[in-house]
Amino acid sequence: MSSLKDIILANINEIQATQVEKFKDKAADIEMFRVKYLGKKGIIADLFEQFKSVPNEEKKELGKSLNMLKVAATEKIEEFKAYVEAHQEQALTGDLTMPTDFSSMGSRHVLSVVMNEIVDIFSRIGFTVAESVEIEDDWHLFSALNFPPEHPARDMQDTFFVEKEEGKQEVALRTHTSSVQVRVMENNKPPIRIIAPGRVFRNEAISARAHCIFHQVEALYVDKKVSFADLKQTLLYFAKEMFGEQTQIRLRPSYFPFTEPSAEMDISCGICGGKGCNICKGTGWLEILGCGMVDPNVLKACGIDPNEYTGFALGMGVERMAMLKYQVRDLRLYFENDLRFLKQFDTIV
Ligand code: DAH
Repeated sequence: MSSLKDIILANINEIQATQVEKFKDKAADIEMFRVKYLGKKGIIADLFEQFKSVPNEEKKELGKSLNMLKVAATEKIEEFKAYVEAHQEQALTGDLTMPTDFSSMGSRHVLSVVMNEIVDIFSRIGFTVAESVEIEDDWHLFSALNFPPEHPARDMQDTFFVEKEEGKQEVALRTHTSSVQVRVMENNKPPIRIIAPGRVFRNEAISARAHCIFHQVEALYVDKKVSFADLKQTLLYFAKEMFGEQTQIRLRPSYFPFTEPSAEMDISCGICGGKGCNICKGTGWLEILGCGMVDPNVLKACGIDPNEYTGFALGMGVERMAMLKYQVRDLRLYFENDLRFLKQFDTIV
């Protein structure tokens, strides 16, 4: 059972942790605050009353805490009064140089925060940002990336076409940021080390797990002797920076038209520590991104000699990263601008 001293201490701690900022605006609120805490029958007076029954040997330390609480409450009231007075003065004199109250300032959207973080992590190892168009032609979206003519991504079902006319080059909203790879390789000589963040579009029904607009980050590194080992080390570095030092990775063989060999990377589940939970569906692993060695056909299509150069590429979804980092369960929340959702990320700069 807790002693009376412990109960009083717990009360003190609770009062100290109370958010009192909201009282500071109006004189009437301040008086209410004063009566509640410092009045003759207020909370602090009551604690002093209880204090009388505490055994003598415990009184010294507890008395000190109680006195400090009383002083702190008194100071808080003085501070609030000064604040109200200063603002009244401001209202009367209309002094526009007075400092403003920033308490209702907006904050960055969680997707921007996560996107910036990914870019930041890659910048630290020499990648620079490359950006390109959102309305893209067939060559940069598919053909140069080694997509065969009958690939389903070229279907109306998956892609929003802007122009689709017999005999003409098709134009569409880009379905992935891999198109930026092509633009960069066409216009630059290796060594190339870029990171391409951006918006992408797919003809998907909107649900908790899919959206027709989302964001990706693509990375590309082309130079002499770039190997799969370089890719693996880069991935491990990224996973640890993004999700914490304890994070482990695993690569599963996969297929993408523009990489050979291709892989998908999983990270160990940070929620259950790999034991298996409902976030990782009991597997202990979370799927994070696609990657691989740039297919020689892609290098060739972009005017880079595949006998001289090799490269790796990787691509990830920003919404998914943010979902895993902050346990967001429904993709639609990102785009609805509901303040109750947005305000949860207020503290992240
Ligand atoms: N473009 C792929 C997508 O949209 C992601 C991707 C996979 C990008 C593998 C890559 C890669 O660069 O190597 O699903």
